[in-house]
Amino acid sequence: MRVQVCIIGGGPSGLLLSQLLHLQGIDTVVLEKYSRDHVLGRIRAGVLERGFAELMREAQCGERMDREGEIHNGFHIAHDGVLHHVDLHKYSHGNSVTVYGQTELTRDLYEARDRLGGKLVHNAADVSLHDLASDAPHVTYRDGGREVRIDCDYVVGADGFHGVSRKSIPKDVLREYEKVYPFGWLGVLSRTKPVSPELIYVKHDRGFALCSMRSQVLSRYYIQVPLTDKPDDWSDEAFWSELRRRMPLEVAARLITGPSIEKSIAPLRSFVAEPMSYGRLFLAGDAAHIVPPTGARGLNTAASDVYYLYHAMVARYRTGDGSGLNAYSQKALARVWKAQRFSWWMTMLLHRFPDRIEYEDRLQQTEMSYLFSSETALRLLAENYVGLPF
Ligand code: APR
Ligand code: PHB
Repeated sequence: MRVQVCIIGGGPSGLLLSQLLHLQGIDTVVLEKYSRDHVLGRIRAGVLERGFAELMREAQCGERMDREGEIHNGFHIAHDGVLHHVDLHKYSHGNSVTVYGQTELTRDLYEARDRLGGKLVHNAADVSLHDLASDAPHVTYRDGGREVRIDCDYVVGADGFHGVSRKSIPKDVLREYEKVYPFGWLGVLSRTKPVSPELIYVKHDRGFALCSMRSQVLSRYYIQVPLTDKPDDWSDEAFWSELRRRMPLEVAARLITGPSIEKSIAPLRSFVAEPMSYGRLFLAGDAAHIVPPTGARGLNTAASDVYYLYHAMVARYRTGDGSGLNAYSQKALARVWKAQRFSWWMTMLLHRFPDRIEYEDRLQQTEMSYLFSSETALRLLAENYVGLPF
């Protein structure tokens, strides 16, 4: 098979890029390691910044998001039993975020690819990338016992943190930066009405907690737990009781609980790989960078990569101008690092660090009281939470 762009990974990054390029007449194939059901079984965050929502509309995938997604003009931060409101609308020039689950968004992207007859291979085993430094790269994968070869102009590595694409960049070219946090988030999904119409991030002596949602009948809650904990260590009752203890009293009093329909623990990690391109390979999304979920930046940072890559590819194919592709890594990384900074800042602000010293505790308290005593500080928070411009 021959295509213009071979995309590895059928997560949000790969699917969105392939849909956008297809609409501009650029031929792509998406190679996904797992089945569609497997990809759609993953539960991930669901806060979209405006730039992401606009990209979904441009990709003709925004209809259900606009109908079912909820616009949030603010969120809360609770600490010392007090609920503080962060007015995103007021502090970010009328901006807001859309709460719409990543699973639903991925489903919409798959449906859009199907509608246009997009080429998508599931269960593509042993994907490997070849001749990336040449003008004629190719990709191979195994389909049952048969090896399939795809010749292309460009390869996009959108295969997530554990994918093969980043690993195809020679070790002496690639530089990796990583910070692993000494705790995880235990998340529970339940068919209950959310405790609050807006998200609540909780800083508490017992550890961080988050009250989020997928809809008005589906809630998503998290509590910070030690990395040694396993989901089975936590009965539903133990989870709800710990969550209640960390919430302000007035919030705990209105919490509606129910059986968990999903329970999992996610470790928190910050990671960046540089550069994000090598020869004819371009990395996008989790393949190149990971953030802890605290600032809801993961999916949104993937979206800015897709935006830059999409425009650079269109310029290359329309006018032969390859300067956007040459500048891609530098441009994408500039925004990636800002998202890293923000996610790190929110993580440091809100969590209990097991090995902290008293001095750091006092700094954390000061950071929090400063935040709610300064409009400038709130503006900084809001500007980053709704997403910096692409
Ligand atoms: N070959 C083909 N596909 C692969 C391979 C491989 N060797 N390795 C992984 N994949 C697939 C995964 O199965 C997954 O479906 O690549 C896809 C990558 O998707 P994601 O991990 O979702 O990454 P991305 O599309 O960049 O999405 C951005 O933002 O909110 C965050 O982490 C969250 O997934 C989210 C991300
Ligand atoms: C979620 O709803 O899963 C969620 C929301 C906001 C975050 C992280 C996760 O910052």
